[in-house]
Amino acid sequence: MDRPDLDWAHLDFGYRKTDYNIRYTWRDGEWDEGVLTPDETIPIHIAATCLHYGQEAFEGLKAYEQVNGDQVVFRVDENARRMKRSCEKIFMAAPPEEMFIEAVFRVVDANRRFIPPYGTGASLYVRPLVIGTGPQVGVKPAEEYMFLVLVTPVGPYFKTGFKPVHLVVEDEYDRAAPDGVGDVKVGGNYAAGLRATLRAKQAGYTEVLYLDAKEKKYIDESGPANFFGITKDGQYVTPESHSILPSITNKSLITLAGEMGMNPERRKIHVEEIFGFRDAGCCGTAAVITPVGSITWHDRKVEYVTGDVPGEDCTRLYEALTGIQLGEREDKYGWIRKIPEM
Ligand code: PLP
Ligand code: COI
Repeated sequence: MDRPDLDWAHLDFGYRKTDYNIRYTWRDGEWDEGVLTPDETIPIHIAATCLHYGQEAFEGLKAYEQVNGDQVVFRVDENARRMKRSCEKIFMAAPPEEMFIEAVFRVVDANRRFIPPYGTGASLYVRPLVIGTGPQVGVKPAEEYMFLVLVTPVGPYFKTGFKPVHLVVEDEYDRAAPDGVGDVKVGGNYAAGLRATLRAKQAGYTEVLYLDAKEKKYIDESGPANFFGITKDGQYVTPESHSILPSITNKSLITLAGEMGMNPERRKIHVEEIFGFRDAGCCGTAAVITPVGSITWHDRKVEYVTGDVPGEDCTRLYEALTGIQLGEREDKYGWIRKIPEM
């Protein structure tokens, strides 16, 4: 395979040009056949609803090269379902699930040479998005949409990789309203989160840990990832909330934690509980499992690890999850789909 000359083991989580992206148009009530193109730009109407009224939703998943050389994606059907929910929530045309999966397969197949080699820790990040492209000046849904999937080879989201990060509890700025759109993957949520994340970084933390916007008592999630804690008796607990993104990684970890005897539970988690955990992590496609080294809440701080060594619970979960993604462990649940030759 004619792979590009990249320093695969040291990639950051950034955009790199690949050979193709794929785009489909929804017009007069139906999606077209989609087209692969090397063009990195899109021509867009100046009154498109994505530009004015935030009609945009996206997804994130990864393609991997496994230990036996197979090129695969992880739980793409879950991303297809979540994209549909996101689109419906903000009144956009939603790509049917089969079309979403086909689009991912077509664009990854066309960019196989950018799938990082097994063992480098890197992966091919797949970013599907839907945007309202039809013009409106009044606040209404567009009458035309584009579904686009781009891919880019990436390394870890947090530049330290599988090393502990430091969170600060954010109870001043909110990311998402209690009955708003925090439970879907729409771009506006990330714009809303920028000021908290940037402030946390300026203060020397890696990311924020949001509290629920209504009572400011319960843990919601981190900026780019869900949160889990491990109680002193080894239970995996993760927040139940209407304003967090239902993470596919977290859902997978709940299954794996169950197998590992960690009695996983999704429930409201009072912020005071952070002081009783023995380990904690952030989880998501980009974040994978990122161990949490410390959490600061006003003038109180809890530390789960010393130095750069991830906690034992995070390590076991990380090995279980990435083992399946990389084909080192059995895929009992059918989470892996091999990229077909298209
Ligand atoms: N929470 C937020 C706000 C996210 O952006 C993501 C990333 O997709 C996640 C959680 C993790 O979700 P997933 O595991 O499906 O990638
Ligand atoms: C992902 O994990 O796929 C995401 O979309 C998170 C994003 C903030 C990079």
